[in-house]
Amino acid sequence: MPHAPPPNPHTLSIAPMMDWTDRHFRYLMRQVSRKVRLYTEMVVDRALIHGDRARLLAFHPEEHPLALQIGSSDPDLAFEAARIGVAWGYDEINLNVGCPSNRVQEGGFGACLMADPERVREITRAMREAAPVVTVKHRIGIDHLDEYRHLARFVETVAETGVTVFIVHARKAWLQGLSPKENRAVPPLRYGEVYRLKQDFPELTIVLNGGVRTLDAAMAHLEHTDGVMIGRAAYETPWAWAGADQQVFGLDRAPSRREVVMAMLPYIEARLMEGVPLRRIARHLLNLFKGAPGGRRFRRVLSEGLLDPTAGPELVQRALEAIPDAVLDERPGKAVAAR
Ligand SMILES: Cc1cc2nc3c(=O)[nH]c(=O)nc-3n(C[C@H](O)[C@H](O)[C@H](O)COP(=O)(O)O)c2cc1C
Repeated sequence: MPHAPPPNPHTLSIAPMMDWTDRHFRYLMRQVSRKVRLYTEMVVDRALIHGDRARLLAFHPEEHPLALQIGSSDPDLAFEAARIGVAWGYDEINLNVGCPSNRVQEGGFGACLMADPERVREITRAMREAAPVVTVKHRIGIDHLDEYRHLARFVETVAETGVTVFIVHARKAWLQGLSPKENRAVPPLRYGEVYRLKQDFPELTIVLNGGVRTLDAAMAHLEHTDGVMIGRAAYETPWAWAGADQQVFGLDRAPSRREVVMAMLPYIEARLMEGVPLRRIARHLLNLFKGAPGGRRFRRVLSEGLLDPTAGPELVQRALEAIPDAVLDERPGKAVAAR
């Protein structure tokens, strides 16, 4: 196992992902790791200010450490959004400077802000007046502003406000011609530029994001950066991160999937009482046994059962019957061979 530096609050985190990292998935990941830092889906400043705050912001106390990601292009609105986030108890307010979707571009925020570091400086300056921990998630470049010197100037400019944590998706985004999904796959990963940022700005906390699929890969990046943020691989293979508390954070904790699911059951009961449909929570369990014996059957029983709107938590129990005890009780590091 490669040597990793002592953990800091950003050593390992789960990326903000629209539609995926809702509070229910975050609660699942909190059962997988006590220490991993969690991020909300992006919430647009105006939605936060004028919208249904309880729906947008409510979370379970166990989710800490928890960051709220906002989308904003306006210092006054960003200040207000950050203030609301802090009042709700978020540990960090993160600004999205990485999303290339058309809708986000029309709002003048997301990745297109990389072309205007001074504006991001003003936005984050305002956010810092409201929030003690403000961070920025961005790309290594956009369109033709994709040389290292552009990236370094962006970071240097924004850091003038006292922002010290930069989460860098290690690929550029093309603002025209590629869908958001293609922008997460087509532009090549350029990890070297993220490593170089850390060398050039040793006093900043540089978190690498993009294409990290295993704990071992994350540990290898931690030799060059302060942190690693995991996106799709957290959603698609949540169990791959179960060794994190032990390997990354040095805790004496290695959960089993039985423990994780058992913790989800009372959580599901409590949310159902509040009127949350089961499928909104249980859909996040579909990948929990991916690749394990019985995993396909678990997924099928659960996904078919969720079509029935009257299904309750016993559906999860029924799906679990597909999984052998050895798999349910397996702890990270000791794999049970797939049949
Ligand atoms: C379904 C989906 C939704 C996403 N939504 C957001 C978002 O709201 N804010 C954001 O900054 N990035 C968003 N991203 C990008 C991820 O945070 C991450 O930067 C990207 O997926 C690269 O990391 P990965 O290769 O580990 O997935 C999203 C990605 C996916 C797959």
